[in-house]
Amino acid sequence: MAPYTGSAVSRVDGFAKVTGAAKYAAEFSVPGLLYGSVVTSTVPKGRIARIDRSAAMRVRGVIDVLTHENRPHMADNDQAYKDDLAPTAGSPFRPLYDDRILFNSQPVALVVAETSEVARFAASLLTVEYEREPYVTDVFRQRDAAVPVKPPANPIDAVFTPPKPRGAPEQALASAPVRHEAEYYVPIEHHNPMELYGSTVVFEGNGKLTVYNKTQGVQNVQKYLCSVFGMKPEDVRVMSPFMGGGFGSGLRPQFEAVLAVLAARALQRSVRVTLTRPQMYSLGYRPAMIQRIALGANAGGTLDAITHDAVTVTSQYEDFFRQETGWSGLLYKCGNARYSHRLAHLDLPTSCDMRCPSAATGVYALESAMDELAVALKLDPLELRLRCYSDRDQNTDRPFSSKALHECYRQGAQAFGWDKRNPEPRSQREGSDLVGWGMATGVWDALQVPIAVRIVLTANGHAEVSCATSDIGTGTYTIMAQVAADKLGLPLDNISIKLGDSTLPQAPVEGGSWTAASVSNAIVAAADAIRDELLRLAKQMPNSSLANGAPDDVALADGKLATVGSAPRSVSIAEVMRQSGVDRIEQEKTTSPDQDAARAHYTHSAVFVEAKVHEQLGVIRVTRVVNAVAAGRILNTKTASSQILGSVVWGIGMALHEATLIDHRFGRIVNANFADYHVPVNADVHDIKVIFVDEPDATINPLGVKGLGEIGIVGVAAAVANAVYHATGKRVRDLPITLDKLLA
Ligand code: MOS
Repeated sequence: MAPYTGSAVSRVDGFAKVTGAAKYAAEFSVPGLLYGSVVTSTVPKGRIARIDRSAAMRVRGVIDVLTHENRPHMADNDQAYKDDLAPTAGSPFRPLYDDRILFNSQPVALVVAETSEVARFAASLLTVEYEREPYVTDVFRQRDAAVPVKPPANPIDAVFTPPKPRGAPEQALASAPVRHEAEYYVPIEHHNPMELYGSTVVFEGNGKLTVYNKTQGVQNVQKYLCSVFGMKPEDVRVMSPFMGGGFGSGLRPQFEAVLAVLAARALQRSVRVTLTRPQMYSLGYRPAMIQRIALGANAGGTLDAITHDAVTVTSQYEDFFRQETGWSGLLYKCGNARYSHRLAHLDLPTSCDMRCPSAATGVYALESAMDELAVALKLDPLELRLRCYSDRDQNTDRPFSSKALHECYRQGAQAFGWDKRNPEPRSQREGSDLVGWGMATGVWDALQVPIAVRIVLTANGHAEVSCATSDIGTGTYTIMAQVAADKLGLPLDNISIKLGDSTLPQAPVEGGSWTAASVSNAIVAAADAIRDELLRLAKQMPNSSLANGAPDDVALADGKLATVGSAPRSVSIAEVMRQSGVDRIEQEKTTSPDQDAARAHYTHSAVFVEAKVHEQLGVIRVTRVVNAVAAGRILNTKTASSQILGSVVWGIGMALHEATLIDHRFGRIVNANFADYHVPVNADVHDIKVIFVDEPDATINPLGVKGLGEIGIVGVAAAVANAVYHATGKRVRDLPITLDKLLA
């Protein structure tokens, strides 16, 4: 039996998904289910002066209209609302808690009715009067008032602590023979997952609730609901077996879950609340980021100074931020570096994680600046990266557990044909198009988190592997099954995976690209425990051929427990269990990251982009992308490629299409829908090639896995911007690069 791990196994949940058998949070149903429709504010800041429920209540089929005035009890201290991903500083948003309006389109009422249509119609009849207050939603108006970030206390946020400065960057910058300094801007962007946020709360009676909830972390939501509503963990079960995209928007519990539970508790009925597409813009977003980068270099193309100053946005009530600037000093050899990061507080919801938070935006600025420095140095942009290459994490002066970025550059450049590039901007043409080639480097953490896995092996040769983690669409079900099948020596079809259920063994939210590495190594530990138990039983069998076997000398393969070596002795697993009189073996193991602290752990990539720009019209097409990725051992080449492909598409969107537009006269998002918020469509996506370079890593974890949900987007926007510059000779430093900016 060939190993499943590392091969292109199709998704084990693929049939369920394409046939509709896979159920999402708002597709679970029970008899007598009620439907809630959310009513949102029309002002960005102030107080609710009056809510008139009467017209809505008169509609036949309406059961109730819940507001801050008539809702059931919710916790009244801030701490109760702090989920695992809540920022250290601030007080989380509480829906329907009081009369305060903190952002436009904030939920102010929930209309509950017998059908979703009636609920939605009645919601339109609600009249709400406000006392307005002055507000600010424009980051440029607030940038001078931005305050330095305070390092977070939350241990999960250790990776977000800004790195220490080194050397004397200002002096080095002043004396550098070649300098580049510029400001780069990334606007607010929204996640826009296909699946709308939804919760189906099943009122089980005897005080128990089952909450089908769209989330990246069922146990995070369970803990949160328990503390908000004063319920016991055994009384709230949160389920999220499938998820139609999260990208970080589902890391924190969203307000529709609170509203659905509020209504279920008030009415003692089962209730479903689903957001509309426009209401999805009342959740978190990628924070807008103003970045100033200065690079100082020697004429030979080595870096001597880096300074990176960032302003990002958050709400007035919570300080959300990530480590946006430290990527600059990490990546390249440079003796002098410093960072600053300030937060602009706006009357908007709290910003949040969005695919590769901080690196997607921070590395965009760095890699654009590096391209501009290469131009100033009259050096090929790839050659500049090679001259600045570092074998050590420059921020902490540690070696990497592995870093095959050199190979990414080499294989990526070769696949792209980079050596045929004419360095001169506007030098490559094809009909009415200017053709540009740009490149950039990508980098992201290789994280691991404590996680528990339970395996139950039954005498019929079937194993159930369970963990409370999520599969947010990345392929977690599949890689879990692959690793378990190989370690247990069973066919893939004999493995069933259970996840997305708060009653299963402990797992943190699925995010940060840490799930594959964490859960796969926990499966190894649990499978080893199963093997050890089988060996213990085998040794007790009369005339056992494994009487002297030590755990490390035996492995499970082809349904047998066998010694490893040239003359294997073996016994069938079924036989061991039959003779021992056991019909199931259950083992649960918790693994914690025991990554060697003396080494730094990162994934890397090299992105090469061809952009064609219509000379008169400024229309941009990204016609070719090569993304060469070093992410340790690849568990599944098919799902891994899909992750990188999707990330590249998003990077194209970040470069050319995406921006959440706010009309600051009203403090309101004006493109809160799929017609006006532009994302790449089929016509925007051409040839994308994904390469995984070989990157053995003997120390990061037993399987050598790093994870790759997010690395694929890093560097893409910069590579596109650099290609557009190469095509046109015009540098656009605020995203997205639209034709009006090119023609201006
Ligand atoms: Mo990811 S932004 O950690 O879901």
